[in-house]
Amino acid sequence: MKSLRALILGPPGGGKGTLSKRLVRDFDFFHVSAGDALRREVAEGTRLGRESEAFINDGFLVPDDVVTKLVVNQLARPEAGDRWLLDGFPRNIAQARELDRNGVDIDLVLNLEIPEAEILARLGGRRVHVASGRSYHVDWNPPEVEGLDDETGEPLVTRPDDTADAIRTRLERYDDLTQALVDHYESRGVLATFRGTESDVIYPSMKAHVADMLAEGI
Ligand code: AP5
Ligand code: MG
Repeated sequence: MKSLRALILGPPGGGKGTLSKRLVRDFDFFHVSAGDALRREVAEGTRLGRESEAFINDGFLVPDDVVTKLVVNQLARPEAGDRWLLDGFPRNIAQARELDRNGVDIDLVLNLEIPEAEILARLGGRRVHVASGRSYHVDWNPPEVEGLDDETGEPLVTRPDDTADAIRTRLERYDDLTQALVDHYESRGVLATFRGTESDVIYPSMKAHVADMLAEGI
């Protein structure tokens, strides 16, 4: 299988999780979501989870060293191979440098630009399945049975950081930190930006771009 080390960068509620699931289905990426991994630690009550919970619920970033260790450990798993998709990491330039320092090269950055009004509408209707990270929307992408995960039948929850205050904090944090990341990856020639309000519009062009990259050099 041809290697492709990718990351998806986008605002809270921008559709990173939703688009990642489609990319995994179509291209067999190993998906590593920093947020999902942290929420699993919280749900399991591990020390890392207890240390991270307040940061997450209030919309602040968890300390860099905690998240970096979690992500780098997941990438080192044999099933990660060298076709993986990072979602929600790196989130600041220090984390990007940590990847560099660990010898982790990035071939492709899928950068989402989504208007803020759209983000607010999406997050208000989101419901998630914590164990898998699957996310639904009460109107746009409802589960087959209201309130239950399609695959396991387990209950869906509203994320504790989907409150108005935490969403505002997350958006501010994103705006403050992201331009440096965009500049970092643009200067390396690996940035591809997708704009719009509809994943249904964004996804076909994203899929074509990834397919092109995988076809290159064959
Ligand atoms: P994380 O879980 O990554 O949250 P986030 O970045 O705020 O992004 P979301 O998961 O909220 O949104 P998404 O882009 O995945 O959108 P989704 O597909 O669900 O991180 C959470 C927290 O963990 C952070 O705040 C921080 O505390 C910590 N953390 C994580 N990474 C960290 C790091 N690297 N360093 C430090 N701390 C870190 O879509 C949203 C909704 O919209 C869903 O309901 C979906 O169904 C719906 N939707 C999707 N597409 C469409 C569409 N086209 N039309 C209508 N609705 C749509
Ligand atoms: Mg997500």
